[in-house]
Amino acid sequence: MDQLADLISRQLAGAFERAGYGDADARATLSNRPDLCEYQCNGALPAAKRYHKAPIQIAQAAAELSGCELFERVEAVNPGFLNMKLSGAFLAQYLTEMAESDRLGVPAEPTPKTIVLDYGGPNVAKPLHIGHLRSAIIGESVKRIDRWFGNKVIGDIHLGDWGLQMGLIIAQLQDDQPDLPYFDDSFTGDYPETAPFTISELEKIYPAASARSKEDEAFAARAHDATYQLQSGKRGYRALWRHILNVSVADMKRNYEKLDVHFDVWLGESDAQPYIPKMLKIVEEKHLAVRSEGALVVPVQEDTDTKDIPPCILVKSDGATLYATTDLATILQREEDFHPDRIFYLTDKRQNLHFEQVFRVARKAKLVPDTTELQHVGFGTMNGKDGKPFKTRAGGVMRLETLIAEITDFIREKITENQTVSDDELEKTAGMIALAALKYGDLSNLATKDYVFDLDRFASFEGNTGPYILYTIVRIKSILAKYDGDVSQAKLLAPTSQEQKDLMLVLSRLQDSLLAAYRDSLPNVICAYIYELAGAANKFYHDVRIITEPDPAQKASYVALMTLTRRALETCIDLLGFSAPDKM
Ligand code: ARG
Repeated sequence: MDQLADLISRQLAGAFERAGYGDADARATLSNRPDLCEYQCNGALPAAKRYHKAPIQIAQAAAELSGCELFERVEAVNPGFLNMKLSGAFLAQYLTEMAESDRLGVPAEPTPKTIVLDYGGPNVAKPLHIGHLRSAIIGESVKRIDRWFGNKVIGDIHLGDWGLQMGLIIAQLQDDQPDLPYFDDSFTGDYPETAPFTISELEKIYPAASARSKEDEAFAARAHDATYQLQSGKRGYRALWRHILNVSVADMKRNYEKLDVHFDVWLGESDAQPYIPKMLKIVEEKHLAVRSEGALVVPVQEDTDTKDIPPCILVKSDGATLYATTDLATILQREEDFHPDRIFYLTDKRQNLHFEQVFRVARKAKLVPDTTELQHVGFGTMNGKDGKPFKTRAGGVMRLETLIAEITDFIREKITENQTVSDDELEKTAGMIALAALKYGDLSNLATKDYVFDLDRFASFEGNTGPYILYTIVRIKSILAKYDGDVSQAKLLAPTSQEQKDLMLVLSRLQDSLLAAYRDSLPNVICAYIYELAGAANKFYHDVRIITEPDPAQKASYVALMTLTRRALETCIDLLGFSAPDKM
């Protein structure tokens, strides 16, 4: 379906043409004076200069010839603006077409792309914390949006499963449980199938080992050595590493499931290691790298840079590879596996420079075709009310699991105050509202900005919040449940009140918002839109009697409008990554 503003613009272009001003810019935009009109067009002003006429003269001529099927009124006002109000019948027809389409009239991507979306990025053996929350929330939404438009999207969690944290855990385990077969070099049998630790033990080992390595130099050296041995393929360490990975990933899956975040592939840094030699060979053959103090580096500074971009280090003087090495090897791997048209990364913005360097090397080395987009979005920090990165009350890093539990407790208490759902449903409903509060609270901000996590505000049922959107959907569901006719036969008629027309106008702009959110990967655009839509819906059902309306055709029209509003809201929240309960 065409965007409404385009339909209006085309109609106006015809009017200008008929009036003899065929080259006037007939673009219609949403009015910035909704008290005066719904759409406006300023094309007569620049045209006036070319035709040496008064702009109002041109506007008047176009207004007279603008036809009546789209407009209730077209007015030329000084100095030469065109102000338009849409015909209610036309608006009803436009929305009916939307309602009849299974994509609500929004066209899919004409040339679908293959997109690898690298998000989540948790580190194995370290508990998931809120630092990884934003990546998961934003990434999941971007994935759903890209997919909804018809692209092939591969969501890859890209686990941090290969770093020093592994060596630290291995070294610590060797001290705690020296008799394990993994540490016995003469052991040739099969290693045990169960891990020698639980997830809660594992979560304690890492922070303890990490703290210890800062004070105990000998221990730090052993951890480095263990990392090296693991990476060189030592059998016992590999087996232990598998256990760490399995235990940790099982826990992550549980957590992401709770967040309604789903990855298509669970690859990690370790999976890219086999691609490192090939990647280094390409870099070498193209003579891109130089030696600098024993390290292998690729200079990436360009003449046009206004700031210093340091060389990208691929191999350290001791032979160790780094985060950038792995990311470059991963690009090669993804090219081989998926031939993506775009690789899109979501991390916090402190990694902006890292990705700038990595992309420059990838381009120079031509690891992907020039047409493949490499894109990184660095998001801002989630802060506490004190403006500093969000912490627990005790000042520690808040675990994701704890955060979700806290929000759910808060919501549960709120909804039990005047409980409308059964005890069984209470838990599920609280979980759904909590997720909406958390995700909407995050996604309604521009991703690149920092924001303040404010539970009271995010969980409020009023204002620009997730629960308010859910509440609106629940209200609509309950109105529709009371309808005694056949919803599928309900036909939308022209509006009978300003509230109804306002709601219809907002609905007619669904496509604009979804396209804008899709083009620039901006879920916040969808949030702003549904907030406006929910506001218009609330006004409508407060002021108009729907179920008690005596005229059956009129009642059916209201019902059709509510049904479409509900579908629009539900489609949007699904793209944001949450859903609505039946009651709350
Ligand atoms: N594991 C990394 C971290 O916690 C994030 C990984 C992001 N993705 C990537 N391809 N570098 O910082």
